[in-house]
Amino acid sequence: MGLVAFVDILFFFYLKLFGERGKMYAAVLLFVFVCWTATAHGDHHQPCRSPNMTGLASVMGTRAETRANGAFAYDSMNKKLRFQSNVTLPFNASLDLDLLVFFEEGVLYKIDSKNQSCEKKSLQNRKHPFALPTDATFVSTMTSGSASIEGEGLKFQIWTTPTPGFKSQTIMCTTMGCLPLSTFHVTESSMLMFSNMNVELDIKDPDLLLVPPFCQGLHAEETPEGTVYGFFDEFL
Ligand SMILES: *[C@@H]1O[C@H](CO)[C@@H](O)[C@H](O)[C@H]1NC(C)=O
Ligand SMILES: *[C@@H]1O[C@H](CO)[C@@H](O)[C@H](O)[C@H]1NC(C)=O
Ligand SMILES: *[C@@H]1O[C@H](CO)[C@@H](O)[C@H](O)[C@H]1NC(C)=O
Ligand SMILES: *[C@@H]1O[C@H](CO)[C@@H](O)[C@H](O)[C@H]1NC(C)=O
Repeated sequence: MGLVAFVDILFFFYLKLFGERGKMYAAVLLFVFVCWTATAHGDHHQPCRSPNMTGLASVMGTRAETRANGAFAYDSMNKKLRFQSNVTLPFNASLDLDLLVFFEEGVLYKIDSKNQSCEKKSLQNRKHPFALPTDATFVSTMTSGSASIEGEGLKFQIWTTPTPGFKSQTIMCTTMGCLPLSTFHVTESSMLMFSNMNVELDIKDPDLLLVPPFCQGLHAEETPEGTVYGFFDEFL
């Protein structure tokens, strides 16, 4: 049912922007957020802390094409993530990714289990769609579906996480219990949408959060000078 929030947000952001290109994305969204933030001023919502989770995630790109579908496990205490997408799932998802990320350390492993190889990268941008960051700003509370009919609505909160200097903006929708539902990551030239589904509040397989033997002892690749690398860049 992550699609519920997804459709709601489509209504607010995506349809307005569809067909627009380049810097327009960032400019329009920034404007919308400034307005919303202004109307929400006076509310003193602290960012909530997302729990441990196992679930499915779907990633869509700028032209509403599915870029990845996969399973994730997130340890919210140690800020560790495993995301494994699978091109054999429906919707023509194009990315076959296996990522193990330690957000606290700022390290991302890109794993290829088939030929037992691995890349290790340093993260400069530590934002991601599986936990609300501590610097998030509350925008508004809304209900997907009906707020008045029992069982027909999903109440959620909208947050923004500005990243000065990173030339990007992230908007997150969370349930009232702080499960991230949808995340919009907007840069000057592209947009990504993450939807989380079928979430359960534990880590089914803790071994997924361990560095595989063939990835150990690697040196992190240098990030090209003047660029900022983050989890979202794997999907752009
Ligand atoms: C989350 O999972 C980690 C193990 O991966 C565990 O140490 C921690 O206690 C869990 N947190 C909660 C709130 O269950
Ligand atoms: C990918 O999906 C196929 C079919 O749904 C499944 O058999 C396979 O185990 C999946 N692979 C992974 C790595 O999840
Ligand atoms: C997947 O790709 C095929 C061939 O390009 C196309 O015919 C089909 O409609 C696509 N399916 C979806 C769900 O986009
Ligand atoms: C691993 O296999 C893929 C194809 O499945 C190939 O493109 C890649 O170059 C291989 N990497 C190494 C280090 O052998």
